[in-house]
Amino acid sequence: MRKKVDFLVIGSGIAGLVYALKVADHGKVLIVTKDKLDETATKYAQGGIAAVMYTPDTYEKHIRDTLKAGDGLNDKEIVKLTITESTERVRELIEWGAQFDKEKSGKYDLSREGGHSENRVFHYKDKTGFEIECTLTKKIKNHPNIDILENHFTIDILTQHHLGREVNKKTKDTNCYGAYVLNPETNGIDTILSKITLIATGGAGNVYSTTTNPKIATGDGLAMVYRAKGAAENMEFFQFHPTSLFNPTENPSFLITEALRGFGAVLKTTSGEEFMEKYDERASLAPRDIVARAIDTEMKLSGEDFVHLDCTHLSKDDLIKKFPTIYAKCLSIGIDITNEMIPVVPAAHYMCGGIKVDEYGRSSINKLYASGEVASTGLHGANRLASNSLLESAVFSHRSAMDSIARVHDVKHCEEIPDWDASGTVLNEEMILITQSLKEVQSIMTNYVGIVRSNLRLKRALKRLEIIYKETEDLYKQSRVTQSICELRNLINVGYLIIKMALNRKESRGLHYSIDYPRTVERKNGYPGNDYEF
Ligand code: FAD
Ligand code: SIN
Repeated sequence: MRKKVDFLVIGSGIAGLVYALKVADHGKVLIVTKDKLDETATKYAQGGIAAVMYTPDTYEKHIRDTLKAGDGLNDKEIVKLTITESTERVRELIEWGAQFDKEKSGKYDLSREGGHSENRVFHYKDKTGFEIECTLTKKIKNHPNIDILENHFTIDILTQHHLGREVNKKTKDTNCYGAYVLNPETNGIDTILSKITLIATGGAGNVYSTTTNPKIATGDGLAMVYRAKGAAENMEFFQFHPTSLFNPTENPSFLITEALRGFGAVLKTTSGEEFMEKYDERASLAPRDIVARAIDTEMKLSGEDFVHLDCTHLSKDDLIKKFPTIYAKCLSIGIDITNEMIPVVPAAHYMCGGIKVDEYGRSSINKLYASGEVASTGLHGANRLASNSLLESAVFSHRSAMDSIARVHDVKHCEEIPDWDASGTVLNEEMILITQSLKEVQSIMTNYVGIVRSNLRLKRALKRLEIIYKETEDLYKQSRVTQSICELRNLINVGYLIIKMALNRKESRGLHYSIDYPRTVERKNGYPGNDYEF
């Protein structure tokens, strides 16, 4: 089947939906999403969306906090534009119907998370993402110019390569003409031709064995762009959230929001000692890279599989009111958080790097934008500040939409793109080949490319991954295309990018920590960002 649209949006989290709503008055929009419309990381976001709203907060303070968390590798101009546009984007979500908690006075009840020097996180209890996703999907479904294809898996973006043409050596320009999409009804592959395409496929937490990310987070968009020779960056910075619920049989891991620490919960060893002061003056509210590494160290010292998060000293009524999801979840496995400590452990959470984009979300491939977790805008540097991700998605989807609207009328569809060629693919591969390889990839990444790294471990990981890569590419060439083999292939690509970029970084910086490069200047004294002037 062939389809022609003005705007193709791949992904239905905050990044895809905000963009779709904005471009929909200027052409036909098709949203392709590989699961149900709302099955996204966005839906599971707990803590909230950061934005400057009231004094004593200022843009300057939020910018400094973002730079400090990012260990000085952020793009300062991008940080400035994102933060100064934060208020407008959050107001827009509110206008569209999103509810955020308010105080009795009518002011928004802003919370605090690690690395923030002020309370600036808009939230709806501990299920902010659910509130945002519901608000956006309601609007999307009512827009006459937007079509949605659920359970449709995008395999690859279309470029000159599919016309059998090489990229012009002089200009090096690659163009995007749409995408090949797996149709679950026919099991065939549809050709979607678009004038402009947005990749908003989210993160890749499933490259690790333990992650807070939903199953859909397999790095598909990034892998597609990498295969199309588009630029990617900063992949060595994979964020581990310090506090996921220790419940070994559960996958994905349930998140215990950082907002709970912002509300006063404290990290302790299993023998009841507070330990974060040893690592950072901001203790339990230090940025995530520092807290996750501290927990990792304490677990190694004690030999235990978890540490504790203690909120038993906090008001029972407030805990239940502000964190109803966490209270109910913990109770369901026999932990009453109002009088028992929560066992927590770090889990892979957020891909700080991704498809390299500019200030309008334009990737290195013409007519291809990227927004949300899949994109690397330069905002996060070496480590993302909590609750800056939903914000980044809203800001960059708006910017990408404005730029796309200005260009779409000058673009023509590329009719010569051929349909998918399935000849030679005869195997129905056995699932065991895929599930076993997936487990191997996750185990390699977890054991050799986790919170603490070394050159030896990274090199070993690369060698092992190369074997699985070759096996999987062979299998892919012979097999009928399925979502699972594509996801495996994509995760291998993501793993490869993380390892390669980690090997290239000859220092410990932010989330990339290598025992071969001890930090010489402790951040206690030399925070990048302290000297930032607005
Ligand atoms: P997603 O919301 O993940 O959406 C990705 C979409 O792409 C999905 O619709 C998926 O089906 C689709 N897709 C993927 N691959 C394909 C394919 N091949 N074909 C078709 N469709 C595809 N950030 C904050 O700022 N604040 C928070 O409080 C917060 N809490 C979090 C809590 C949890 C548990 C998690 C996991 C993350 C949290 N984050 C938080 C991070 C934040 O939620 C995500 O970074 C953000 O929601 C990403 O939005 P997105 O639109 O880029 O991707
Ligand atoms: C959390 O609620 O702790 C997650 C926030 C985030 O990932 O930004």
